[in-house]
Amino acid sequence: MYAAERVGPSGRVLGIDLDDHEVTLPAHAEIRVLDAFAVDPEMLGGPFDVVISDMAPKTSGQRHADQYRSYELFMRALELATSVLEPEAHFVGKIFQGQEFEDARNAVREAFGKVRVIRPKATRDESYEVFLVGLGRRDVTA
Ligand SMILES: C[S@@+](CC[C@H](N)C(=O)[O-])C[C@H]1O[C@@H](n2cnc3c(N)ncnc32)[C@H](O)[C@@H]1O
Repeated sequence: MYAAERVGPSGRVLGIDLDDHEVTLPAHAEIRVLDAFAVDPEMLGGPFDVVISDMAPKTSGQRHADQYRSYELFMRALELATSVLEPEAHFVGKIFQGQEFEDARNAVREAFGKVRVIRPKATRDESYEVFLVGLGRRDVTA
């Protein structure tokens, strides 16, 4: 999680998940319990300084199908994020690396000034999941 003073004046951080997770969050961060594909972005409020998606599909064992479903979740998270983020704000989204990974990275590049790929140290060796980070939402109104 980012410190509020590093993410913008309000430091508002948004996460979304189908399930309610019992985690204690600082006052500037919230997780909304909803289906990312069903929510109307206008219902999310905002603006936010960071949107974080740890969303992932239930794995089926069919690698490409799982990667594609992860890509769809990632792209939906990015779509929601770009609807609610302030200019200069940031996005972090989990994705399973696969054939669509470069499309996802390019989509982040279009919306943000910088893109980073992060593989947390705690990630299992056999896992193909990473986080794509978009830094500095481009100002689409400028
Ligand atoms: C890897 S788990 C991460 C859970 C949580 N962040 C944690 O660390 O315990 C993936 C999460 O994606 C969520 N998810 C899958 N599809 C979703 C959707 N359509 N909308 C919202 N959340 C979804 C699941 O509910 C699940 O909790």
